[in-house]
Amino acid sequence: MRMVDIIEKKRDGNALTKEEIEFFIEGYTKGDIPDYQASSLAMAIFFQDMNEDERAALTMAIVNSGDVIDLSNIEGIKVDKHSTGGVGDTTTLVLAPLVASVGVPVAKMSGRGLGHTGGTIDKLESIEGFHVEISEDKFTQLVNEAKVAVIGQSGNLTPADKKLYGLRDVTGTVNSIPLIASSIMSKKIAAGADAIVLDVKTGNGAFMKTIEEAEALAHAMVSIGNNVGRKTMAIISDMSQPLGNAIGNALEVKEAIETLQGKGPQDLTDLVLTLGSQMVVLSNKAKDLKEAEAMLKEAINNGSALESFKTFLTNQDGDASVVDDVSKLPQAQYQIELPAQQNGVITEIIANEVGVASMMLGAGRQTKEDDIDLSVGIVLNKKVGDQVKEGESLLTIHSNSETIDNVKEKLNNSITISKQGSNPTLIHKIITE
Ligand code: URA
Ligand code: CA
Repeated sequence: MRMVDIIEKKRDGNALTKEEIEFFIEGYTKGDIPDYQASSLAMAIFFQDMNEDERAALTMAIVNSGDVIDLSNIEGIKVDKHSTGGVGDTTTLVLAPLVASVGVPVAKMSGRGLGHTGGTIDKLESIEGFHVEISEDKFTQLVNEAKVAVIGQSGNLTPADKKLYGLRDVTGTVNSIPLIASSIMSKKIAAGADAIVLDVKTGNGAFMKTIEEAEALAHAMVSIGNNVGRKTMAIISDMSQPLGNAIGNALEVKEAIETLQGKGPQDLTDLVLTLGSQMVVLSNKAKDLKEAEAMLKEAINNGSALESFKTFLTNQDGDASVVDDVSKLPQAQYQIELPAQQNGVITEIIANEVGVASMMLGAGRQTKEDDIDLSVGIVLNKKVGDQVKEGESLLTIHSNSETIDNVKEKLNNSITISKQGSNPTLIHKIITE
C-alpha cells in the first residue's frame, strides 16, 4: 500500500477501506508516514467527509495505536461521560457519586490537564488527604465495593490521536466532524468504557457554534459508538454562559456538595439529572430515562448520593467531614464583588472569558508545570436572564491578591447587560440513537 494512493482516493471522494485506514494510522504513529502526507489526508477528509464505516474504522485504529485499559474485573456495565468542553463544569464531581449511589459502576481515570480550572483530580485534591495514587487492584476493589473510584492517568493511550490532533491544530483541519468524532470516541474507548454518554456543548464559547453543527457531531459520535459495540447517547446543551455558579477548584467542590444535597444551581442540577439518567439506562439499571431520573432524584432526596460521595472520599483517604463543613475547604483571602454598571437584564456571560479570568486568578494551568491555587475563582450571583440594578453584585471574585483590575476588566467585558432578554434553554436535544 502507498500513502499517496490513499490520499488521492479520498481527495476524489471515494471511501477508504478499513485496511487503508489502519495502514495510515499505524504508519503515522510509528513515524513511517510523514506529517505532510498525514496533513494532506486530513484536508481531504475535511472536504470529502467519511461514511459510517470509515468513521468506525478510524476510531478503532486510533484506539489500537496504544494501550487499552481493561476494566473487565469490574462488575457491571461501565459507562463513561464526556463533555466537549465546559467552563466551571462541575458535572463529573456530582455525577460520579450520584450514579454510583444507584448502582452504576464509575471507574474513572482522570488527568490534571491544562485549562481554566484544574481537572477533576485537582478539584478533589482540595479535600485534605484525598489522592488518586492507588494501585490498579485497589481501584478495581473500590469500584466493585463502593461503585466509584478515581485513579490517575497511566499508560500510553491513543498516541495516534495526540499526534494527529497536534497536526490538525496547525493545518486548518480541526473542525471536521469525522475527525473530531473519532478523536473523542477513541479516547473514551481506550479508557475502557463499555457505554458512553456525551454532552455536546453549543453556543458562544463552545466548539460547535450552532445547534445544527452540535447535532451533527452528536449523531456522528452516537453512530460510531453503536457501530463499534459501545452503546452511546448524547445531549446538546447550552454554553452561552458558565454552568452552575462556581468556577474554581474548591469552589466547585462546594457547589458539587450543595448539588448532591439538592441545594445546587438549577442548571447544574438539570444537566446532571439528564446526563445521569442516560448513564443509568445504558448501565441497565433502569428501563427508561423517566424511571432513571426518578431513581436519581430519590437518591438526592434520601441522602444516599451524598453518602456515596463521603464513602468515595474516605476510601481514597480524603477528609469526608468537609461535606458537613465546607469551611474546611481552601479559602481565598479576599472576596471582591463586581458591581453591575447599569440597570437591565443579563443577556450574555461569555463562558470562555470567565474561564480566562479564573485562570488569571491562578485557578488553572497554562503549562503542565504550573501550580494551581485551589482556593481562588469566581462565583456568579446573576445568570443570563436575570434582572440587575446598577451597583448590584454580578459576581464574587475569590482572590489571594487585592490588585485585580485586569481580572475585573476581563469580567466586565464578558458580561452583556441589555434592556431585555430571557432565560436560555439549557438542554436543546436528547439523542438516544
Ligand atoms: N476534542 C478532541 O478531543 N478532539 C478533537 O478533534 C476536537 C476536540
Ligand atoms: Ca460550576
